[in-house]
Amino acid sequence: MGTEKDTRTNYFNIFNDKKPIVVRRCSLEDLEGVIEVNEKELPEDYPYFFYKSILDNYPESFQVACNSNGKIIGYIMWRVERSPAISSLKLMNKGHLVSIAVLKSYRRVGIAATLLSNSMKKLKKHKIDEFVLEVRVSNYLAINLYKKFNFTTHNIKEKYYRDGENAYYMTLKA
Ligand code: ACO
Ligand code: ZN
Repeated sequence: MGTEKDTRTNYFNIFNDKKPIVVRRCSLEDLEGVIEVNEKELPEDYPYFFYKSILDNYPESFQVACNSNGKIIGYIMWRVERSPAISSLKLMNKGHLVSIAVLKSYRRVGIAATLLSNSMKKLKKHKIDEFVLEVRVSNYLAINLYKKFNFTTHNIKEKYYRDGENAYYMTLKA
């Protein structure tokens, strides 16, 4: 309930005035807006129940960015997976980045970076050992973003995407 503080980032924008962008937890009412951003910005679409189950299971790391009219302009969602470490039988908690996107007209002002850093802090509640993600090998914008957060390429997943494109599997020790 009201314990969580919104994060305000200043949005220095193309209209030459400063509008506040708010980054906060996603609510059930936000899902429609999240899906809209996903459908505009990414070829991977998911059914409503998929978003809903991520929200139900990992609500604190499901975050949205809203413009001054309250419109959803970006989101990030994660899930937590328990799986064996590569080099031992020890089980590890992996924070798996499911999806992140920011509407084109709001890009390159730090919104994705804010979404990432806020949600990664929230994920620590789940005692994450490692953050992991897949990204298209051609998606240099996103690859740059992840590199900026010190993710490194662990390996390539061949033909990971439906259209046959390969993915970089990138990881970062928590
Ligand atoms: N050129 C080069 N690097 C870029 C660019 C760009 N146009 N845009 C972002 N970056 C990198 C830079 O390292 C940047 O840091 P810098 O500005 O200090 O150089 C860093 O990302 C952070 O930039 P932000 O402004 O925070 O990123 P933005 O809010 O623009 O969002 C995102 C980046 C999410 C990748 C956006 O371009 C987008 O929505 N793309 C389409 C959706 C997508 O590809 N999502 C990732 C799919 S993979 C997955 O979801 C697991
Ligand atoms: Zn994945």
